[in-house]
Amino acid sequence: MDRDERAARLLHLRGAALGQGEALALPITPASMFHLSGDPEPGVAGYGRSDNPTRAALEALLALVEGAPALAFPSGMAAIAAALFATLTAGDRLLMPADGYYGPRDLAARFLARLGVTVETRPTIGFAEGGFEGFKAVLIETPSNPGLDLVDLAAVTEAVRTAGGVSIVDNTTMTGFGQRPLDLGADILVASDTKAAGGHSDLLAGHVATGSAELLDRMRDWRTLSGSIPGAFDAWLLHRSLETLELRFERMCTNAEVLAAHLDGHPGVSDLRFPGLLTDPGHALATRQMRRMGFLIGFTLASRDAAERFIAACPLIEPATSFGGVHTTAERRARWGDAVAPGFVRLSVGTEPTEPLVVAVMAALDRAAGGG
Ligand SMILES: Cc1ncc(COP(=O)(O)O)c(C=O)c1O
Repeated sequence: MDRDERAARLLHLRGAALGQGEALALPITPASMFHLSGDPEPGVAGYGRSDNPTRAALEALLALVEGAPALAFPSGMAAIAAALFATLTAGDRLLMPADGYYGPRDLAARFLARLGVTVETRPTIGFAEGGFEGFKAVLIETPSNPGLDLVDLAAVTEAVRTAGGVSIVDNTTMTGFGQRPLDLGADILVASDTKAAGGHSDLLAGHVATGSAELLDRMRDWRTLSGSIPGAFDAWLLHRSLETLELRFERMCTNAEVLAAHLDGHPGVSDLRFPGLLTDPGHALATRQMRRMGFLIGFTLASRDAAERFIAACPLIEPATSFGGVHTTAERRARWGDAVAPGFVRLSVGTEPTEPLVVAVMAALDRAAGGG
């Protein structure tokens, strides 16, 4: 199924099963208990930790987006934890990016290592160097947050499989409408839906998806037994957000392309990173494995102060951490200790109409770079 067909079907998945008089919009079912007499039956809801119809409707949409069965989680980290705890055991080796989102590295170093898992990291650039022999699980993030370096998904997932490991791909920065890791060979897809999938900066959520029934069962068992369950309201909110994901994602990517072209060559900007630029080190790979070039742009201004001035000067940029929302946001990642220059800005491009956004961002940049 191609992207447009998937996006169109997503809007009619619920309608196809509706009876006379039922609401087109998904109802919220906040329930811990369900009417359950006699012996439990498979497929009949019994208890909220294992069953919820709102969550099930959300998972049907997520499965359509990803092209494989999906499980919803209360955050991206909860989804990543499920993938790691479901695949690793004492004595196993885990490989992760040294420069991607810091959360999984912290989780692995502070919890998995204590349980006897050996944790190793590698820069995203050159991730395949050194091979994958002996790793039980390999976590991949592409484009990486915040550096926007790329990993060749088809080549790396195949190499991991050949070496006998499980590949886990974090698709947060691209969503299923921009990049399809499972089609490119990933065993497990993980994503933070707090970002573009949720998209309105009002929700924490995440999901996993996999074509392997065995891995799906392990992650579902982990979720049920660890209690890592999204509530009915959050499931409903994400279901509603997914209905406009394709629309929002397209606008965000278009805006980012136009903005990146304007930033390119600006005298105040250095180390501009956007996979859509011909000059970006990841461009050739991006055109092979990404459908759009994403909505994140990284660049460095002369100093910490210039970066702060830029963010503060633009009326169409909200100063905030996280990314993927309808509002354009930006932050200096060095404020969290990421290994980037003090003036490095991660810009998350929103859904504002393109022209006013570009005019406002470039005017703020001129003012900040000029020191005014
Ligand atoms: C690439 C990536 N993966 C996972 C996460 C974790 O997601 P959450 O904050 O929803 O737990 C983040 C959060 O910033 C992220 O950037």
